[in-house]
Amino acid sequence: MSRIDELFAAAKVAREKAYAPYSQFQVGAALIAEDGSLHTGCNVENAAFPEGVCAEAGAISAMVLAGQQKISEVMVIADAALCTPCGGCRQKLNEFADKDVTIHIADLNGVRRSFRMDELLPAGFELEEKD
Ligand code: THU
Repeated sequence: MSRIDELFAAAKVAREKAYAPYSQFQVGAALIAEDGSLHTGCNVENAAFPEGVCAEAGAISAMVLAGQQKISEVMVIADAALCTPCGGCRQKLNEFADKDVTIHIADLNGVRRSFRMDELLPAGFELEEKD
């Protein structure tokens, strides 16, 4: 069962923590792992611009640190029409998410659209066959 309200609330809180002095574009991400645990991340920019880290990457790191390696649902939030994950983050999510995992994209008022993992990253690179 989807825990969409909980995901939205957690992503929104995470977004408030974003360190984005260069772009002024704050992003929050929240994900639920296979065991039901919730993990969040925010974007953390750097004066050397390419060294910035996306919110999704932060949430994935928190999940792995907590001992989980399978994503069951994701929420990304920003004050934008549709803040879908960047190409690199799609690949990062794909590492831990099956093709049918739902990735919700929200603005500050709620979910705008929801995608399947394989919609965001069709034919994603995989070393081994996944479900
Ligand atoms: N960003 C994310 O954290 N996640 C996304 O899905 C899109 C973009 C960040 C990267 C950068 O800090 C800022 O948003 C502007 O691109």
